[in-house]
Parts: sequence; C-alpha cells; structure tokens
Amino acid sequence: MPDDQAPRSPLQAPAALSPAAHAFTTRLSHAGRAGTRIRGFVNPPLLRGSTMLYPNCGERQAASATRLDQALNYGTMGNPTHHALEDVVAEIEGGTRCQIVSTGLAAVTTPLLAFLKAGDHCLVPDSVYGPTRTFCDGMLVRMGIETTYYRADIDAAGIAALIRPNTTVLYTESPGSHTFEVQDIPALAQAAHARGVKVLMDNTWGIHFFQPFQHGVDVSIQALTKYVGGHSDMLLGSVTTASDEDWECVRTAALVLGQYASPDDCWLALRGARTLGLRLQHQMQSGITVAKWLAGRPEVAQVLHPALPGAPGHELWKRDFTGACSLFGVVFQSEFSTAAACAMIDSLELFGIGASWGGFESLVLPTTGLVVRTAGAWAFDGPVARFHIGLEDTSDLIADLDRGLAVLRAHPG
Ligand SMILES: Cc1ncc(COP(=O)(O)O)c(C=O)c1O
Repeated sequence: MPDDQAPRSPLQAPAALSPAAHAFTTRLSHAGRAGTRIRGFVNPPLLRGSTMLYPNCGERQAASATRLDQALNYGTMGNPTHHALEDVVAEIEGGTRCQIVSTGLAAVTTPLLAFLKAGDHCLVPDSVYGPTRTFCDGMLVRMGIETTYYRADIDAAGIAALIRPNTTVLYTESPGSHTFEVQDIPALAQAAHARGVKVLMDNTWGIHFFQPFQHGVDVSIQALTKYVGGHSDMLLGSVTTASDEDWECVRTAALVLGQYASPDDCWLALRGARTLGLRLQHQMQSGITVAKWLAGRPEVAQVLHPALPGAPGHELWKRDFTGACSLFGVVFQSEFSTAAACAMIDSLELFGIGASWGGFESLVLPTTGLVVRTAGAWAFDGPVARFHIGLEDTSDLIADLDRGLAVLRAHPG
C-alpha cells in the first residue's frame, strides 16, 4: 500500500477485503488501514477534534450535504479514527457499513429509536440485556411505543402470531443475557421479513462466531466494550448493517441524538481488534475447559454454556455459530442458598466480582434476583452466577474454583 494515498470517503462502503481469500486473523490485521497511512506509520492516526476548517465558503458548503447522513463537516460526524474502526467492525461481522456510538447500550437504543416511531409495536426476547428492557419499559413507553416480551425459545409460528399490523421491529439477542438461550434467528428473521418487520440483533456474545447478515439479521449491535476492546479500559458500541438504506437510517438517528465516541476509545478498540482473533480462540478454549470442569462437579446442577453438548441451545449453536466466547452461566444445586453461593464467590481470588465481560481478566457475577423474566417463569431452583473466563491459565482458575466450592459446601445454609 503506498504512503499518504488519498483516504476513501467515509460515506462510501469500504472495499471488501476479499473475505473468501483471507482468514479472519489476516483480515483483522489489515482492515481499517486502507488510505490511512500517514508518513509510513502502520496504524491509522488518532485524530481528536470538534471544528473542521475550510479554505472558503464554497468548500464548506460542499461538505454540508442536504442529507444529514451524507454531511461530514463537524467533529460529531466522525473522523478517520472513527471510520477506521467502523471498517474493522463491519469486517468482523460481515456487514457493509457501521456506525460507532458511545457505549454498547447506545448501540441498542440508537437503532431502536431509528426504526420505531410513536404507535409502533416492538418484539423483544424475555432474556434481553437488562438495560434494554429498562429502555423499552421507560423511554419507549413514554414515546407511545409498545413492547411485547417473547420467550427466547419461541419458534417461527410463535413469533408470527405475535406480529401485529403495527409491529416494525423484531429485536433479538442470542444467547440471552445471563441465561444463555440460543434463538433460532434464521427462522425468526424469515417470519419477520414476511411481514415487513426489521430484525435487530444484539450480537455481542457471538461477535464474529455468529455472522448475523448470513442469518437474516438487518441490523447488528455490538458492545465493543467487551472482547473488541478486550482490556476493560473503555466503553464503545457499534451498529452495523448490510444495506446502505439501513445504515443511513441508523447514522441519521445517531447524528440527531448527538451520539459521539471518543477517538481515544476508538483507537483503543482498533488496537484491541488486532489481537481479537487470538484472544477469542484462547478464551473460547479456556471457557469451555472451565465450564466442563464445573459441569462435572456435584455442587453444580447445570452449566448454561451453548457450546457444551447437552446444554440448552447447543443444537442451534452447533448449526449457526462457528465458536463461542467465554461468558456462561452456572446454576448451583438447589440445596445451596444464595448466601452460600455469594460466600463461594467472595472467596475466589482470581475472579473479580463485577459487571461487564470480554476483558483479559476473569469475572463472576451472582445473578439470582438480578434478572427479570416476564414471558415465562425464572426456571432455576438453585442460585445462579455468570462467569467470564479471561486469559489466566485454566489450571489456576480451576484450583481457585475448587477452593471456592469447598466454601460453598461448608456454608451453614
Ligand atoms: C449483551 C450486552 N449488550 C449490551 C451491553 C452494553 O454495553 P456497554 O456496557 O458498553 O454499555 C452489555 C453490557 O454488559 C451486554 O452484556
């Protein structure tokens, strides 16, 4: 690639990196770098800025297109640091266009606001990420938009029966937050499209292992905060589309909402993305190793990890996913109290107690009582916790968990 070549317009889709010819890790090394080389440096520049200056009024007017999604004349509209990351994320998910927003939650709310209007109806899985539910039950209700929650294991006929004349969005998240139900996305998408309903998906768990646009999704949401960032040191979200039309709709919503992401965070995400393929492979294997070990323990009733044979959703996962991230749930036997599970969690040395996931470090979060389900009953008798496996050695993690299970057994009640 020659130095200082003219950057492509960020308002046009990037040239495809011939996905058939290159493996994922190769594409991660090269995506987002075309036309960004400045004085020979490998990486796109980290540009910060609000005001953009023009040599004369004519050039300023030319940059101010009448259509908002086409304008590129102020910092909020993004700069080459944002656009490089947008190209990388589109590459990860197999989409064509991407819009970076401030957080993963903003990546949920921005397309919902883009595709819904007063009087519309939206379908959302019962297993959805909690703050998405809060947004639907609060902000969307105030805007006159109704949400129906459906069971994550619903089939095409079931979803078709829930679609009303005013249903405009089928929202999906697979696997579901905390309980890891895998949805039959192709079947649900087909039923939705037959009635002209847009399909949105929170694909943060699947990242690259689920290619949303090959399975009928129109708009894919990622919390880049998780594995793409990979270091628990930034927050970002992305909304990726297959069609220009959907991208224009999402970008217009992002701009009118004043959605903006710090270029410093975008630069960290770009840096994280270069090693994403290796981290994902490693963390997938570690996650499966630890999950299998837990599944074999008498204190554990069930491990909610779609990649484990026999686990809920395993058959759909095997059909539609090419891998798994390292986030899963554990249901302890019902003889143990929530207090006992918390004592076990408190005793762990290598697992931080906290929200989020996708970083280099292992985490655990007790989830009993934290999770709302309204389309069906909470199906677990024993206490439940969510584990994220980081880059530590699995033998150390397992030894820590072994000591923790002794604390669980010894707890008085
Ligand atoms: C499935 C899912 N989607 C979206 C988000 C929101 O991401 P962020 O923390 O960047 O707002 C999270 C955060 O935990 C999540 O788990």
